[in-house]
Amino acid sequence: MDPVLIHFKEMSDGRGGLVALEQHQNIPFEIKRVYYIYGTPVNTRRGFHAHKALEQVAICVKGACSFLLDNGKEQVECRLDSSTTGLYIGYKIWREMYDFTEDCVLMVLASEFYDEADYIRDYEKFLEEAN
Ligand code: TYD
Repeated sequence: MDPVLIHFKEMSDGRGGLVALEQHQNIPFEIKRVYYIYGTPVNTRRGFHAHKALEQVAICVKGACSFLLDNGKEQVECRLDSSTTGLYIGYKIWREMYDFTEDCVLMVLASEFYDEADYIRDYEKFLEEAN
């Protein structure tokens, strides 16, 4: 299993960088929600869930953090450290995030509104659903 990375076009000039994210263009779904995670204490691990139907693209717009992705058969680790790279996370993928830098701002685009009923927070249940 390879991480699915999306490389965004960078429109930089002498004034700095600019990246545009557009649904069904460089983001492979309708964007219904955006949230971001910041100020994560060093040595914190979060995530520990999968989603039944939600698709997401995670972008480290500042700093860096690592992802563990698990499809129920294979696991892969991936370091996000660029504001021009997105990590696509499909449904039924268990994810954990860790090794956040102090300045990390992790922005996530999501295909649905927040819905706790879409979460699978129990790893054994995830394995049943994934397989
Ligand atoms: P959670 O998804 O569990 O965080 P993580 O997987 O990164 O560890 O979300 C943490 C809390 O925030 C939880 O109480 C649900 C709430 N939340 C929302 O209200 N809206 C959202 O869009 C998200 C992502 C979380």
